[in-house]
Amino acid sequence: MNHSMKQHWNEIYAALDVDELTWYEEIPEPSIKLLSKCNINKDETVLDIGAGASTFIDHLVNNGFKNIIAVDISDVALDKLKERLGKERASLIRWIVDDITQPVHIQDLRNVAVWHDRAVLHFLLGEDEQRTYLTTLKKVVRKGGYVIISAFSLKGAKKCTGLDVKNYDQDMLAKFLGDDFNLLEYFDHKFYMPSGERPYIYTLFQRKYG
Ligand SMILES: C[S@@+](CC[C@H](N)C(=O)[O-])C[C@H]1O[C@@H](n2cnc3c(N)ncnc32)[C@H](O)[C@@H]1O
Repeated sequence: MNHSMKQHWNEIYAALDVDELTWYEEIPEPSIKLLSKCNINKDETVLDIGAGASTFIDHLVNNGFKNIIAVDISDVALDKLKERLGKERASLIRWIVDDITQPVHIQDLRNVAVWHDRAVLHFLLGEDEQRTYLTTLKKVVRKGGYVIISAFSLKGAKKCTGLDVKNYDQDMLAKFLGDDFNLLEYFDHKFYMPSGERPYIYTLFQRKYG
């Protein structure tokens, strides 16, 4: 676990209400759109990597997904999400505090049908961190499973919460995932924050069966 990163994120989540975070979405429409393109059953595993306090989890629970895993380096973020969901709905989710760059628990998972990452990969600047992310993803996502990744686009912000980010387009993400994955869909999305707009790239990949 990268303890300074954990502390960084815990401080951010402790300092602000969830709806004050600059990435807060009342309804995570772009992610919902891409999820709807995934041909999966509702009892298959959907893993939200770096879920934070995202309303994507609310969407999954409210829409009958039965195998939801929320992972984040920040226990404070996940606690806020649990609190918003309430005990009953929170008990339907598997909660994992882990660091995707030094995973301990995530790498034991298997048969993930959807890997969802909104605004997490772009914080990984080191090649080792990126390699670990990819190795873990490949270990846990099943053949024919889906990968939704959204990141700040090439026109997007260069920093978030004081941290540098790596900007992506769909070709860079396709190159990152490699030949095991087909790019099914992508689009640019302008996310509006009170202080202005923030361009993201959204991508949907499917792991090949072969
Ligand atoms: C910009 S926020 C996005 C949160 C959420 N995906 C959303 O869309 O609301 C980035 C999230 O990634 C988490 N995070 C950052 N580095 C991480 C790491 N190495 N492993 C796991 N989670 C991480 C942070 O705690 C934070 O919740």
